[in-house]
Amino acid sequence: MNRQRILIDGDPGVDDAIALLLALASPELDVVAVTTVAGNVPWERTFDNGRRVVALAGRKEVPVFRGCTGPLLGPVLRGKYSGAGGLGGSLLPESDAPVQTAHAVDVITATLTEAAAAGAPITVCTMGPLTNLAVALARDPGIARGMSRIVAMAGAFLAGGNRTPSAEFNVLADPHAAEIVLRAGVPVVLAPLDVTFQALATPARVTALRARGGRVTALAAELITFYDRNDPARYGEPGGPLHDPCVIAYLLRPDLFGGRPAHVAIELQGSLSYGQTVGDFHGVTGKAPNATVLQQLDAPGFFDLLWGRLAAL
Ligand code: BDR
Ligand code: CA
Repeated sequence: MNRQRILIDGDPGVDDAIALLLALASPELDVVAVTTVAGNVPWERTFDNGRRVVALAGRKEVPVFRGCTGPLLGPVLRGKYSGAGGLGGSLLPESDAPVQTAHAVDVITATLTEAAAAGAPITVCTMGPLTNLAVALARDPGIARGMSRIVAMAGAFLAGGNRTPSAEFNVLADPHAAEIVLRAGVPVVLAPLDVTFQALATPARVTALRARGGRVTALAAELITFYDRNDPARYGEPGGPLHDPCVIAYLLRPDLFGGRPAHVAIELQGSLSYGQTVGDFHGVTGKAPNATVLQQLDAPGFFDLLWGRLAAL
């Protein structure tokens, strides 16, 4: 099988953890590195959580690296689920996966430089604030040649924001980094809240996950149930949205998604709209599209894929 080489950067976090499990369970994907960044929880925790997830997947050979400790500019934001270390306290056992000492930015730079030199650019998946990738690009813009595309859980368009009325967490937590990434000249696919809000882990779907059996499904269901606890009140919908797994599902089954090209820029000035992703879907700016913005999800197909892969781990 011709496996797709990917680097995953994120801030685990429950939905990041489920996304990592999906990637590690998928034989079509070759996860060359997991880089972590401050976001949902501080950098030490996202690093530790990443190591716990690769151990849970039985994939301790996949290296996990620590990354940037906060945004390029602006205040430090934490996720809504930061209370219990980002992964429901002690739900996941401590990990004996290797403690890598290299920094995420160096690893991203080296990986992409090597991919560019080999003429074999890779996919970079992001699931948290974009600080690590932006710093690597600012230090060496040439690494853009090592990326065939960036698939990012980031932004909100018609759906509105989840941390302000207009901004989504991963962008708001480092809007300048998001702007740097969008300007890098690499094809970008955005999975914004518009599509991830359709990936609702309803109680009936979580029950269906438990019924699949397998080594990690009970624990995954516990994590999702912990994560779910505020969302029904917040969104008026049953179940929490599994944002980050949409990134990996898109790699595996792009046919489950619908989207449109747009030029996307980040609002860096507005007081009410700071961190908003502004999409030009109608070409009114005359700027060429720099992103494909995902908008529709075949939710039953998505959960069938996700639950099936988790059950096979
Ligand atoms: C994003 O913010 C984080 O809380 C989640 O892990 C996801 O990446 C959703 O806005
Ligand atoms: Ca995340």
